[in-house]
Amino acid sequence: MRSIVLFAPKILIIPGSLRTGSQNARLAAVVAEEFVRADVEVTRISLGDFPLPIYDADLQANSGVPASAINLKQMIGAHQGILIVTPEYNASLPPLLKNAIDWISCVQSPHEERGQVFHERAFAIASASAGRFGGARCLAQLRLILTACGAMVIPNQLALSFADDAYDDMERLKRSADADAVKTMVRQLITIAGDTR
Ligand SMILES: Cc1cc2nc3c(=O)[nH]c(=O)nc-3n(C[C@H](O)[C@H](O)[C@H](O)COP(=O)(O)O)c2cc1C
Repeated sequence: MRSIVLFAPKILIIPGSLRTGSQNARLAAVVAEEFVRADVEVTRISLGDFPLPIYDADLQANSGVPASAINLKQMIGAHQGILIVTPEYNASLPPLLKNAIDWISCVQSPHEERGQVFHERAFAIASASAGRFGGARCLAQLRLILTACGAMVIPNQLALSFADDAYDDMERLKRSADADAVKTMVRQLITIAGDTR
C-alpha cells in the first residue's frame, strides 16, 4: 500500500567523512539522486564547511557556542528530514560526526528547549564500508545517540557492505538489494518527514 505524503519535506544529507574519494560521500550522492527522482528538494552539505573545535565545556562557558554549530543547527532546522551517511571507525562514529552532534546539542536559542532541533524532524542513517557489515555497528550507536538527543530515527537504515565494489561504471549501485534498500529508506524518510511539518 502506498502512503500519502501530505507535504513534500525538504531533505538535508550530511556525510560523516571529509576524505577525498569518501565511500560515504559517494553513497550520499547516490541517495541524493534518489530523492531528486522522488521530486523532493534535497541539500547535501560537507561538515568541512562547519569547522568545530573538539567540544570543551570550558570553551563553551568562556566563548559560547561556535558560529559553525549555530549555522549547522540552523541548516538542520530548515529541513524536515535529515539523512546522515557515515563511516564506521572502530565500531563507532568518527569524531567529526560525534563532535558535530555534541555541539549542536548545546545550541539553545531563547524560548527553545535544549536540543529542540532534534525533536521536530525525522532522521535517517546510513553507512558504507568495504567490510562485510557495511558499518552496521556504527549505525546502532548513531541511532542510540540521536534518540538520546530526542530525535525520531526512522526504522529503515542502510549499511552498504563491500562498498568499494558496489557501483557500476555509471556510478549506480549494481546490486539490486542495495538499490532497493536505498529506495525503501528514501520513501520512508519522505513519508515520515512529510508528516512532521
Ligand atoms: C580509525 C579507523 C577505524 C576504522 N574502523 C572500521 C570499523 O570498525 N569498521 C569498518 O567497517 N571500517 C572501519 N574503518 C574503515 C573505514 O570504513 C574506511 O576507511 C572507510 O572508507 C571510511 O569512510 P570514507 O571512505 O567515507 O572516508 C576504519 C577506518 C579508520 C581510519
